[in-house]
Amino acid sequence: MNSSFTRRQLIVGGMGLAGAGLLAACSSTGGGAATRAPVSAAPTPSLGKPSVEATLRVGVDQVDLGGVTASTWLYDGVLPGKELRAKSGDVLAIRVENALPVDTSVHWHGIRLHNAADGVPGLTQDPIAAGDSFSYTFRAPDPGTYFFHPHSGVQIDRGLYAPLIIEDPAEPGGYDAEWVLVLDDWTDGVGKSPDDILAEFKAQNGTVSTGMNHDMGGMGGMGSSPLGDVGDIRYPYYLINGRIPKSPRTLTAKPGQKARIRIINAAADTLFRVALGGHVMTVTHTDGFPVQQAETRALYLAQGERVDVLVTLGDGVFPLVASAEGKGGQGLALVRTGSGAAPSATVRPAELDADPLLLTALMPADAARLPDQQPDQVEQVTLNGQMQPYAWGMNGTVFGADTPIRTTNGARVRLQMTNMTMMAHPMHIHGHTWSLPQNGGLRKDTVLVLPMQTVTADLQADNPGKWAYHCHNIYHAEIGMMTSLQY
Ligand code: C2O
Ligand code: CU
Repeated sequence: MNSSFTRRQLIVGGMGLAGAGLLAACSSTGGGAATRAPVSAAPTPSLGKPSVEATLRVGVDQVDLGGVTASTWLYDGVLPGKELRAKSGDVLAIRVENALPVDTSVHWHGIRLHNAADGVPGLTQDPIAAGDSFSYTFRAPDPGTYFFHPHSGVQIDRGLYAPLIIEDPAEPGGYDAEWVLVLDDWTDGVGKSPDDILAEFKAQNGTVSTGMNHDMGGMGGMGSSPLGDVGDIRYPYYLINGRIPKSPRTLTAKPGQKARIRIINAAADTLFRVALGGHVMTVTHTDGFPVQQAETRALYLAQGERVDVLVTLGDGVFPLVASAEGKGGQGLALVRTGSGAAPSATVRPAELDADPLLLTALMPADAARLPDQQPDQVEQVTLNGQMQPYAWGMNGTVFGADTPIRTTNGARVRLQMTNMTMMAHPMHIHGHTWSLPQNGGLRKDTVLVLPMQTVTADLQADNPGKWAYHCHNIYHAEIGMMTSLQY
């Protein structure tokens, strides 16, 4: 029993046996108990002619992670899935063909779209059955860095994720290169399957090890993080754009050029600490929205969060490292602007330890702020649970047994989230972007709530529907750490 496991047993404010008993109500596959009832989807608004049309084939496949081959599930046979790109205001029409042996769905994470296209089985649509197809047509109103993934079971912990970039036609640009990096934690086809891990959690075995950690470089056990507990699972690999550190992707540019780097954390259970060796990063956006620019040498990126940074590139070869916080492994990509030998797979740039920035500490750009308005409604939300027995929920219960938060169109809703657990939870709202009053109205759709912390998050109810609201640790969400906002 390692130290982090012991620490997790010292839990206050847990759900106790009541919450654990309710877990039996969850189904073992698909998206939980609520997926069984047929859904009457919200009406689809008339959107006009799509400017981006694509077909997405969801299938069983093999992927080369860089010398290691894994059997897994992929979008269109590649990892990450092919990027979708549009301009703000564009209508996208995406036909999803499900070639998996099970149900699936696609959620367009962070996009303020109409409810029927949100991709949540049990809330906004029926699941897409094996062999079936489904078309999502929606307008993407806000520019920014987004991604898409299934909202069915723990499928995101396979290879099912891809970037969705909404460009701002009014943006000045001012950079020479643009790179999109997707971070992930990987076990499927090389360690236990995500469904097996979930089954072990449901059997309340507590901490799960997926076997040998190939990237550990001699370190043993879960490390510790100044943020507290941030993950339950040690993965065999951590990936950047589908590659293990021994065989990293290389991004090339010229010395002195400016690069815009869009970074997406698509991991199921891993919070990453990110740095580019030898460089300072200027943070320009988080979760799609512009911020007051802030310089940092390292930053934290939780599951579901996105960040855009600008860097002025030096001359040489530099490691871009995503260190699995509290776990010991890392993902790696290389930035090459000149000659020189590539750093080793276990390189650890000093920048990683230079006071990493929490994205919830940023301030919004003026243009990103919601108009000032006092809340019409204040909701207290508690985050509950613990590792032993493995149970995670919200407001003392689990999804399916929960009471949705209700509001009315036009209201300003304040959510006061209190984390009563010893673990950090990246909380995510669908169909809206929160405004965080402590940070001058910073806009985010995914907010890391630290152990025992309370975070206040406001939203403007201007997009009626049934909107999922959950922890973006996919195992927590699937065990029950999810509710909804409905109006
Ligand atoms: Cu990216 Cu409901 O999630
Ligand atoms: Cu969580």
